[in-house]
Amino acid sequence: MDRILVTGGAALEGSVTVPGAKNSVLKLMAASLLASGPTVLEGVPRILDVSIMAELLRRLGADVEHDAAARTCRVDVPEEVGHVADYELVRAMRASISVLGPLTARVGRADVAVPGGDAIGSRGLDLHVEGLRAMGAEVHVDHGYLVTQAPPGGLRGAEITLAFPSVGATENLLMAATLARGQTVLDNVAREPEIDDLVDLLVAMGARVQGRGGGRLVVDGVDALAPARHVVVPDRVVAGTWAYAAAITGGHVDVRGGRVEHLTMAVAKLEAAGARVEPVEGGFVVEGPARPRPVDVATLPYPGFPTDLQPFALALAAVADGSCVVTENLFEARFRFAHELERLGADLVVDGHHVLVRGRPGLSAAPVEASDIRAGAALVVAALRAEGTTEVHGVAHVDRGYEDVVASLRGLGADVRRETVTGTETFTALA
Ligand code: EPU
Repeated sequence: MDRILVTGGAALEGSVTVPGAKNSVLKLMAASLLASGPTVLEGVPRILDVSIMAELLRRLGADVEHDAAARTCRVDVPEEVGHVADYELVRAMRASISVLGPLTARVGRADVAVPGGDAIGSRGLDLHVEGLRAMGAEVHVDHGYLVTQAPPGGLRGAEITLAFPSVGATENLLMAATLARGQTVLDNVAREPEIDDLVDLLVAMGARVQGRGGGRLVVDGVDALAPARHVVVPDRVVAGTWAYAAAITGGHVDVRGGRVEHLTMAVAKLEAAGARVEPVEGGFVVEGPARPRPVDVATLPYPGFPTDLQPFALALAAVADGSCVVTENLFEARFRFAHELERLGADLVVDGHHVLVRGRPGLSAAPVEASDIRAGAALVVAALRAEGTTEVHGVAHVDRGYEDVVASLRGLGADVRRETVTGTETFTALA
């Protein structure tokens, strides 16, 4: 597998452009299954996960044209759609689970491999299953597959209150509800900007959804949806990654396409650390402090501090002028990253879902291993503040969610390169 070599020391200077959001485009691609005909997405990021979702949709019978140069993806869905999402693809990318709702609603059946736990936690599916059952589906696990069967006449509307505002469950149930008979009320739903983006595509396809942006969505089912054209919302986690990279290096970065309104809590924490964050036309600018102040951070569902930016907050705390506590409330295994950060010289203590971090003036380079997408990107970012050359292994994780991170960093003046190890990278290697 490839590795990224980062020689620390440079303050990042310049501008970088944020593509469409990974965690939106994958669900929008799945939503295209709800209507026969060509749905076209624009602003599609050039990342590995889009290729994996394209492959999954092809295996379900869709004709998918992903034009990376034009950043478009055209998903042409036939009248007859398959219903099996096999283990090979679900294992490579957990977001494959988002075909569950669309297939159950449109085809009346889905066989989706159970993803199992992964590098960041156990990640249950109970809320997806309970919601579909409330809509009349039979759901059981058979030989490692979650099998759903809609009742004769299709799913029916229901009142569902999620025990926790799960992003994935909200999306699956929302998509399923668009084609259910009658009204579905989804309460305590996730409010991430990616959910709003999904609502926007569904409405453009003819769905009747009220309550966009709130904690309660009311969906009146329709008989059929039509394909539509849609521009993917910018990736707030990628924008946040560049904001933290600017802050940690004491640099000055113009984050083109970034939206501060999607990063309220992260911006507040960066400002508390001494960074200056200024919205400008078409993006925002971040100017880092010479040495960050320590800031406590606790992850929560949106609009709380995003778990996907927690590793970056930890990296910033590692070079802060004092001590602070970082708390992870969503994914119990996400502190695997903290132990890699220790290899770079960070002074920290992990205690359950809290990390006590005692900031140091700088870090020192070492070989480190990425365990997931965000951990990989955060190791690259932390290495910018480390003396010497850090080798980041497990780079395929980073490719899943970031467009050419090396080219972007070089454009900002960092001393970064990628070494390609020859051999075949397969989807299964990413599990
Ligand atoms: N949960 C349950 N039962 C369920 C569903 C969720 O217990 O039925 C729990 C999970 O175990 C977890 C918590 O609820 O502890 C949050 O899970 P959620 O369903 O909200 O997350 P997700 O849909 O699996 C998406 C993103 C993640 C992001 C989280 C939280 C995608 C493809 N993934 O995951 O992104 O961290 O929401 O914001 O949209 C990433 O991009 O690196 C990433 C991991």
